[in-house]
Amino acid sequence: MIPHSKTTLTKEDSSAVSRVINSGYISQGEAVARFESKLAKYIGVKGGAAVSSGTAAIHLSLIALGVKEGDDVAMPTYVCPALLNAINYVGAKPLLIDINPDTYNISTANLKKKLTKKTRAVIVPHIFGLPADIEEILSIGIPVIEDCAQSVGAAYKGKKVGSFGHCAIFSFYATKVMTTGEGGMVVSNSDKILEKIRDLREYDHKPNYIVRYNYKMTDMQAAIGISQLKRLDSFISRRKDIASFYTKKFSELGITVPSNQEKEHIYFRYVIKKSGQWSVVSGQKLEDDLKFFEANGVKCMRPIFKPIHRYLKLKGFLEADRAWNELISIPIYPSLTDGDVKKIVRVTEKWREAKVE
Ligand SMILES: Cc1ncc(COP(=O)(O)O)c(C=O)c1O
Repeated sequence: MIPHSKTTLTKEDSSAVSRVINSGYISQGEAVARFESKLAKYIGVKGGAAVSSGTAAIHLSLIALGVKEGDDVAMPTYVCPALLNAINYVGAKPLLIDINPDTYNISTANLKKKLTKKTRAVIVPHIFGLPADIEEILSIGIPVIEDCAQSVGAAYKGKKVGSFGHCAIFSFYATKVMTTGEGGMVVSNSDKILEKIRDLREYDHKPNYIVRYNYKMTDMQAAIGISQLKRLDSFISRRKDIASFYTKKFSELGITVPSNQEKEHIYFRYVIKKSGQWSVVSGQKLEDDLKFFEANGVKCMRPIFKPIHRYLKLKGFLEADRAWNELISIPIYPSLTDGDVKKIVRVTEKWREAKVE
């Protein structure tokens, strides 16, 4: 079975961790500081503050932007619950926004329509590795947290995502584009935001008491991060090569492939769409399609397990519902062999043919 996602770890990563362990200093220290400055330089921003997860990074970003109980925070509904959790941690209210059906990113038009007087921030994920309409969103004038959990290394008009918002967050979960096992970071051009996050992520040896957290990253994790960052461009280039092979093959089959107008997609996920006449004719549920792939040795998934409005039992998010019903995420990661990639194409062809009949 070809798994849906997989880590990209090598001896370089294990040697980097060993060096930290042998140094005898394993918690947040010199390696964390080095990882922060290296990632900030790569993204093109002033600095970074590493934390224990992407969720922690969003949580502390919201506090640093002054979001409080009773405020609204806008976010797309077609995303994982981490964003909703972080908004709930600060007692704010999620303002759910539908998606743009061409890119699956937050719909700027829907965002403009739904903004309230109490909207204090918007979280903008660059979903699946494809940049959102970040300039247009910034022009609205509310503070923006870019969510680059799926898009480290992607660029918008030649500039890396993560360098546009008031701050940006990253996740380094095991199967993300680059990993530290678990981990996250906030990057920003604002010293004030970075200082606040560095203060809040650790609780001890402080002159005053406020609620603080233990959201630190360890030097062992940071060592993996530094090692992975060195190879990030090669990870992305392998993802892009696989994606262009898929796109060429699938376009010939009439399968709807991901939009990539600016050619700056890094393909954290490669999603194909179960739509067109053949899907209408078959009337199959997406679960049946996923089962078909699995029976043929390729594990595929819904790219978003469940849109947020479905958890909250809210209605009126037509594009997110459509994406949830129609999108299939097929395996794409650097360690796929050329043989794996060909097998995935063959099985997708078979799936397409099975539907035509
Ligand atoms: C878009 C997005 N934001 C935030 C997160 C949360 O990151 P973490 O799992 O590191 O808390 C994820 C994780 O999957 C994500 O995909």
